[in-house]
Amino acid sequence: MQAYRAATLHLLDDPIADAGAVRFHPDGLLVTDEGVVVACGAYADLAADLGDTPVEHLPGRLITPGFIDLHIHFPQVDVIAAHGEQLLDWLERHVFPAEAAFADPAHAAEAAGFFVGEMLRNGTTTAMVFGSSHVASVDALFAEALARNMRLIAGKSLMDRHAPDDLVDTVEGGRWDMLDLIVRWAGQGRLGYAVTPRFAVTSSDAQLAMAGEIVRDHPEVWMQTHLAENHAEIAQAEALFPAASDYLNVYEHFGLVGPKSVFAHCIHLERQAFARLSAAGAAVAFCPTSNLFLGSGLFDLEAALAEGVKVGVGTDIGAGTSYSILHTLGEAYKVGQLRGAALDPLRAFYLATLGGARALGLGDRIGNLARGKEADFLVLDLAATPLLARRMAAARSLEERLFALTILADDRVIERTYLAGVCQHRRDG
Ligand code: GUN
Ligand code: ZN
Repeated sequence: MQAYRAATLHLLDDPIADAGAVRFHPDGLLVTDEGVVVACGAYADLAADLGDTPVEHLPGRLITPGFIDLHIHFPQVDVIAAHGEQLLDWLERHVFPAEAAFADPAHAAEAAGFFVGEMLRNGTTTAMVFGSSHVASVDALFAEALARNMRLIAGKSLMDRHAPDDLVDTVEGGRWDMLDLIVRWAGQGRLGYAVTPRFAVTSSDAQLAMAGEIVRDHPEVWMQTHLAENHAEIAQAEALFPAASDYLNVYEHFGLVGPKSVFAHCIHLERQAFARLSAAGAAVAFCPTSNLFLGSGLFDLEAALAEGVKVGVGTDIGAGTSYSILHTLGEAYKVGQLRGAALDPLRAFYLATLGGARALGLGDRIGNLARGKEADFLVLDLAATPLLARRMAAARSLEERLFALTILADDRVIERTYLAGVCQHRRDG
């Protein structure tokens, strides 16, 4: 057993729906054993049961669950911060050429080390990830995540049209690549496979139908794609699928909207489309840094939550501008401000932890520090910079501290990142 004494914070539910869901202990204790949480509570309540388990004392630190990045692109590591375009031109000019390089296993392996390392440096312990269309990219990513025992769900992008020759696959090629990846990786360690049609624009009817067949025949897999991010994208998708009643209906038609489906963005959606996502049990990845960077628009979080849609947050690297989920929450707040709806700091923290876990259907395994959960947790240094130290000293409440963290923090705040009870990142080490 391992025991860590520090302030502890985690949530048992959405704190706006249930004010009793907040578990905060200024002098707390987290006990783990063989990668699982044994207890998390007040030090005074738990200390007597520790026996001879050594306690690591971390004064001034805050222990939280690890963050969940619900949407990120591995083969875009080198195109973060690419100037000038909105979505469709940005894809053609910057993204597709960069993704083509991931056909090379050596390049993919080198990039995977950086990519996974960067997520851990920023406190991300679970991620749902797009690979390139090449099997080699997903192999490299899964190998790196497995070596770290990271919970990671990924898939190769399916794209059989409207992309350069060195990226496009075919219906049958995509099917066999996926089946091969599922057999070799799904269920190994904490890895999962996601059927990943890039978006309706780059897959033919036949390829989307094939993706739907794989989803139907493999209940163990997830599904991830993009939806209603940008006006030109929506117009193109609707023109390519004239029989569909709207963009979401394209995915519905091919059996791609279910309880293990995650749709990135969903900015320009009708209210009734949120209702359909909710009825299907599908989830949305809110990616504020990306939506602001590409000028895509302002996600209506309140509408999605009011319709009962499961929502988590994604960095959407490389359209997103930071690997930090804390920073992403700060930008989510700013998107809310532009809409006239200030995001509550505790709800933001929920979206990054248990909300993301529930979006993946993993709320029983990760997302908080309840007994029996996988011990994916962070040690945060709230005084990591002089500015943070000063602002924290002036803060009067937990909410104020959390909010300041989302506005001011970066990777320096993440002192340690633990995956299944093992420290996989140490800021100073
Ligand atoms: N839509 C289709 N592909 C992409 C992508 O790589 N990034 C974003 N943000 N949107 C997309
Ligand atoms: Zn994306």
